[in-house]
Amino acid sequence: MRKILLLGNWKMNKTPLEAGEFMSEAKDLLELADQGGIEIGVAPTFLCLANVSELAPEGFLVSSQNVNEHDHGAYTGEVSAPMLKSVGVGAAIIGHSERREYNGETSACCNLKIKALLKEGLVPVYCCGESLATFEEGKTLEFVSKQIEEGFAGLSKEEAAKVVVAYEPIWAIGTGKSATKEIAQDTIKGIREVLRGLFGETAEEIRILYGGSVKPENIASYMACPDIDGALVGGASLTTSSFRELIKGASL
Ligand code: PGA
Repeated sequence: MRKILLLGNWKMNKTPLEAGEFMSEAKDLLELADQGGIEIGVAPTFLCLANVSELAPEGFLVSSQNVNEHDHGAYTGEVSAPMLKSVGVGAAIIGHSERREYNGETSACCNLKIKALLKEGLVPVYCCGESLATFEEGKTLEFVSKQIEEGFAGLSKEEAAKVVVAYEPIWAIGTGKSATKEIAQDTIKGIREVLRGLFGETAEEIRILYGGSVKPENIASYMACPDIDGALVGGASLTTSSFRELIKGASL
């Protein structure tokens, strides 16, 4: 049984003080999530991770938004998986479309980051998703399948089962234009089929989230889809009041 995951991607928002204010309500949010049987967490900037994990109650997932594939060394400006682990971080978002676009990240480099995280026992949240042009050409699944194959390359079934996938169509991120639940379900079902081709029945264990303008008003419709196992939420995860409504919507 795949447990629903609701992960807030805070992107480049919140100072440590603001993150701390949010976390003062984390226990209440976690209790609400537990009642609905769902897992919750947030992904703050590197700067806030130590603070946020110290304030996080047990069971509240703290994720970074990136990681370097090396353990240590001369990589100015980077942070490694062992470093994240040392401050209690449990997961990392990998290959977000903004990082692919602005930082030139490829699926091959994401593959190395995924392996570095798994080595430390951290959960990779691997993002994939197509541009509007690719969507309009009808080539979504072809494009996303390649991202999945490259990102999961060389993983054993046991390792693959630990990865969380987030399908985020680029045209739906931060635009207010969310994908319909039918589009999200169809693509995510297609992603699971690709994973089945790679890892057999293990594909049934891999959680696949939807992301892109998820809001309290539309989260329930995504959660009702058989292949969607949660949501990666940007804008609507920034306040505790909105986060609370997302939990309620995801628990219905
Ligand atoms: P959004 O962002 O919910 O603000 O569209 C989602 C994401 O980029 O992860």
